[in-house]
Amino acid sequence: MIEKKWLEQGFIDEPIPEKTDIKAEIRRMCQEKNALIMAHYYTEGVIQELADFVGDSLALAQKAATTDADIIVMCGVHFMGETNKILCPEKTVLIPDLNASCSLAESCPADEFEQFVKAHPGHTVISYVNTTAGTKAVTDVVVTSSNAKQIVDALPKDTPIIFGPDWNLGNYINGLTGRKMVLWNGACHVHEKFSVEKILQLKKEHPTAKILAHPECKGPVINIADKVGSTAALLKYSIVDEAQEFIVATESGILNEMKKSAPQKTFIPAPPDDSTCACNECNYMKLITLSKLYNCLKYEWPTIEVQPELARKAIKPIHKMLEISKQLGL
Ligand code: 13P
Ligand code: SF4
Repeated sequence: MIEKKWLEQGFIDEPIPEKTDIKAEIRRMCQEKNALIMAHYYTEGVIQELADFVGDSLALAQKAATTDADIIVMCGVHFMGETNKILCPEKTVLIPDLNASCSLAESCPADEFEQFVKAHPGHTVISYVNTTAGTKAVTDVVVTSSNAKQIVDALPKDTPIIFGPDWNLGNYINGLTGRKMVLWNGACHVHEKFSVEKILQLKKEHPTAKILAHPECKGPVINIADKVGSTAALLKYSIVDEAQEFIVATESGILNEMKKSAPQKTFIPAPPDDSTCACNECNYMKLITLSKLYNCLKYEWPTIEVQPELARKAIKPIHKMLEISKQLGL
């Protein structure tokens, strides 16, 4: 029975009996229920270690579209689970804490975005995957940071485009492609905070370090980066590049996989501009904890639900993204 208190708070905090081997129990429940745990690179290391699949937003959507699991447990933020549910309406999609939102998705309310779209007739609407189902429903093609440039490039040069909600990503792609996409003014509260001054100070202390930046960062940070890319692209670069030190301007959870993949290299999290803390964390991703994951699998709740009519509209631009990505070999 799902308690009223849990419904109100959006997660289950039932105490786990002492001496429970939580990780072993989670794995046992996954096997018993044919459940697949997917995690984003920004979640806690312990969650990534337990997951069946860890990836960036594009890889997580691609995996959801092909898995034969009966239950998908999305250890990430709500829009990622919602994308999974839209792609797999017949499956149970769980998220350990319904409060795991995303400031970018929140910066683009569907009704306001719809008005914006209406104010620009004749434009192709491109939305970043970090959006709600409602925003996707008024979108022509969804993109992630792994495929945004290639998808924009694939459209005829004279196509007028609206891009939302991340202004920094849109502005970066305008620069790369020479387009003049109309940009929605949204931002990620984590990536906006990286400080160029502090990164340059770190660079002085580590002159051979390469700077890695996610395209959600502001222009001045992107301009000093040696590599700009999605979480998966930054990870790959850190493995194959000859540099031994990297200053990483994205959410610090990615350092877990970077250190694991190249243990001989040094990874330094880029600091935000407004605190004494050394790294920049996404408070939403960090809501996903081991005990919430355990209870979520045990009770098969919280589930992510999407109204069928909304899902019917939102699936089209997601399918379009997956199709184009496949054609482009991404
Ligand atoms: P990626 O698509 O690069 O994994 O990014 C997701 C995200 O939320 C970045 O803040
Ligand atoms: Fe959203 Fe930013 Fe968190 Fe990514 S890091 S999930 S864009 S709030």
